[in-house]
Amino acid sequence: MTKKKVKRVDPRQLGDRELAHKWRRFYDAGAPVSLLMLGVFVIISGFVLCFNPTMLPGSEDGRWIFAVSLLEVCLLISVVSLAMGFYVAVYEPQVIRNHARGAVLLVFLLLVLVVMRIIAIYDWPRHLMVAPVLMLVIVLAIGYSQRFALGMGAFAAILSTIVLGEETLSVFLSICSGMGFSVLMLKEIRSRSYLIRVSFYTALVVVVMVWAVGFWMSSPLVSILFNSLWAGGSAIAVGFIMQGILPVIEAVFRTATAMTLQECGEASRPLLKRLAVAAPGTFNHSWQIGMLSEAAAEAIGANGILCRVGSYYHDVGKINKPRYFVENQAENFNQHRELSPTMSRMIIIGHVEDGMELAREYHLPRILHQFIACHHGTTLVEYFFHEATKKSAETGSNVPETEFRYPGPKPPSKEAAIVMIADAVEGATRAMQEPAPSRIENVVREIVMKRLLDGQFDNCDMTLKDLKKIEVSLIKSLCGMYHGRITYPKSEDTDIATKLNGATKTTF
Ligand SMILES: [Fe+2]
Ligand SMILES: [Fe+2]
Repeated sequence: MTKKKVKRVDPRQLGDRELAHKWRRFYDAGAPVSLLMLGVFVIISGFVLCFNPTMLPGSEDGRWIFAVSLLEVCLLISVVSLAMGFYVAVYEPQVIRNHARGAVLLVFLLLVLVVMRIIAIYDWPRHLMVAPVLMLVIVLAIGYSQRFALGMGAFAAILSTIVLGEETLSVFLSICSGMGFSVLMLKEIRSRSYLIRVSFYTALVVVVMVWAVGFWMSSPLVSILFNSLWAGGSAIAVGFIMQGILPVIEAVFRTATAMTLQECGEASRPLLKRLAVAAPGTFNHSWQIGMLSEAAAEAIGANGILCRVGSYYHDVGKINKPRYFVENQAENFNQHRELSPTMSRMIIIGHVEDGMELAREYHLPRILHQFIACHHGTTLVEYFFHEATKKSAETGSNVPETEFRYPGPKPPSKEAAIVMIADAVEGATRAMQEPAPSRIENVVREIVMKRLLDGQFDNCDMTLKDLKKIEVSLIKSLCGMYHGRITYPKSEDTDIATKLNGATKTTF
């Protein structure tokens, strides 16, 4: 019996390897650069907080006092900044990975600090500090999320206490109540006047808070009145300013509010009008997917409007060659009959790149681009792959599957994944001769499982629970859509369309 040689592992080496692995992860996540940026932020903040034009350090003693206070402030800010960095790393890690985003965030915070310092130096009403923090949280609620905006707003409120020194309580609580209320109201901005309305409600909350703190601290009535006017006035002014610069915020953060999405989803938009004229079948298909995906998104708490409007644009690339896509083909004519499978593949796959070009040409919001680029992910154009395989079998050559796959990328968000599924199930169920509920159910489950096993949801944080809810919603919507559809006798030509659709389980 041979003795198996057991390789001894030196525990010190293991420790080294673990350390190296941890450092690699830390490095790959972009943490060193983020820490460097945070360090620069701390130093600049220290100078902002210590700078006072009325007491410039001229003498040796003055310089020494300035240096000591700078060190003290930097120490304080670095503690707050590290806590802030940890919060960002946990809740918005892309800010750490994407250094441009990180830099924008720190510049915003620095601007808030500068404005607060100016208010303190020139002895302006302290409650004006509500304004820069409200602006910051509104920008972050639109650009990122409500939770992230609240967290960062809390850090800005803490910075205000450092700026103010002792007279902080009323301002701190006004900022906290104002930002908390406004961020919670900013789940969706559905109309132009909404930001103004939010600012008025926020002003009311802030004013009540100033009066409550004023009574509690037995402040003079005149001072409470002035403080509440400054705090409330700042909140209202912020509403008007933010409404004016909303398009800039959307462009900087590559996002779109519900209001912008609603506008993009109007059928009168130039690109949608062009789609309706050039490819009416695709236009109708996109509208159906919009309905299906919005309901499915709402079932899992994702962004329904984004899904609906993204669906409207997902196939705009078909405008260039509409007749090569089954939903625009005449009853008895199929353009692909005259083409080789390779040529057909090029045309079919090309609609994704054509769509991206149109999106850029018509300046669609960046957030909608993902629906065009990723609605097929890296799936296979099955029908033409099988056709090519059949032909190559005759000649004895081999057809690589990768050549008949869409170039991707895979859906990066739940919304994009939902549109991918809705697109596939809409195409497959439309091709059904008798769309009975049980058959619809089977098709939906089969398609979802196929996409899952094909790894199409690898880039989005979709869970199995989400997929289950999406399936249920799609089955319900599709059963409603096909309720009472009359079954026509099967003809040779509709059979071809069915094969085309059935083979890819979708429209192309
Ligand atoms: Fe489609
Ligand atoms: Fe498509």
